[in-house]
Amino acid sequence: MSELNKIALKIISEGKGILAADESTGTMTKRLEAVNVKSNEENRLNFRKTLFTSESMKKCIGGVILYDETIRQSAGSITIPELISQSGTVVGIKVDTGAKPLAGSPNEKITEGLDGLRERLKEYYKLGARFTKWRGVYSISDKFPSKLSIHSNAHALARYAALVQECGMVPIIEPEVLMEGNHSAQVCYEKTCDVIKKCFEELILNKIDLTGVILKPNMVLDGAKNIKKIKSEQVAQLTLKCLEESVPREVPGVAFLSGGQSEIEATENLNVINKANNTKFIMTYSYGRALQQSALKHWSLNIKDTSGTQKVFNHRANLCSLAAQGKWSRNLEIQS
Ligand code: 13P
Repeated sequence: MSELNKIALKIISEGKGILAADESTGTMTKRLEAVNVKSNEENRLNFRKTLFTSESMKKCIGGVILYDETIRQSAGSITIPELISQSGTVVGIKVDTGAKPLAGSPNEKITEGLDGLRERLKEYYKLGARFTKWRGVYSISDKFPSKLSIHSNAHALARYAALVQECGMVPIIEPEVLMEGNHSAQVCYEKTCDVIKKCFEELILNKIDLTGVILKPNMVLDGAKNIKKIKSEQVAQLTLKCLEESVPREVPGVAFLSGGQSEIEATENLNVINKANNTKFIMTYSYGRALQQSALKHWSLNIKDTSGTQKVFNHRANLCSLAAQGKWSRNLEIQS
C-alpha cells in the first residue's frame, strides 16, 4: 500500500468524511453576512475553531480542508493544523486560486493557480497539510459544458494532481457540475460522465497514482430550476451508474460535495447511495454547506455559545457519518 493510499483511506474510511471549511475570504464573508455576523479574521477563526474542537471530529471527520488564512492561524499556543491533528483528523488545504472566465468561451470558467504551485505546496506541507483540493466548475446548458471547458479544466486538475503527489500529498479531484439550470437529471448524468471521464484520461496521461487520489464529484440531480425532482433512489442509481462507468477501479473513494442541497437532502441522498452501492469505491461526504449551515445559524445568534453550536454540528456530522454507512434514517433527524 502506498503512503498516499494510506492517507486517502485514513480520511474516508470507517464512516468518516471531510469537512470542507475552505471558503475563501470572499465566500466566507457572504456566509457570515447572510447571518448578520461581521466578517473579520477573529470571527472567521472563532466559528471554525468551534467546529474543529467538536466531539464529532474524532469519529466523523477524517479530513478538514482549510483556506490559506486558516492554516496560518493559531488557537492559543497551538496552530490550527495541530489542533485539527489532535482529533486524528488529516489537514487539507485548498490550493487553487479560483475560477476565472475561460478565454475562448468566456461564459464558462477555468480554474487558476498552477503558477508557483510547487513552491506553495512545499510550504503547505511544512505547515502540516497532507491533502489538497482543486475545484473545476462546469455549468450545464444546451451548449455547456463545452469541449474546451471539459478539456481545459481536466488538464489543469491533472497538472495540479501531479505536483501534489510529487510533494507527498493526496490531491482531491473536484470537478463540480453545477446544479443551476432547469435541465433533467438524465442530462446531468450525461454531462457529469463526460467531465469525469476526461479528468481520468488526463490524470492517467500525467502518471497520477490513482490509489492516492480522492474524487469529489457532484451527485447526479435535476437542475435546481427544474420543477420536477427525482427521488433519492433515482439519484443514487444515476450517480452510481455514472461513477461506475467513469472512475477507474484503483481509486479508493469518492467524497461528494453538497453543492447547494439542503443538509437533509445531502444526507439522505448519501445514505441511499451507500445502501445501493455495489461498486468497490468508498462513498462519503466532503460537505461545506451541508455540514455547517445549521451550526452557523445557531452560532450567529450567540457567538459565545460554543457548546450549543458544537451540539448542532455534532448532530449533523453524526448523521452524515451514518449516511456514509447507509445507516441513516429520517427519524434520527429530530434533535433533542
Ligand atoms: P459544498 O458542500 O457547500 O458544495 O462545498 C463543498 C466544496 O468544497 C465546494 O468546493
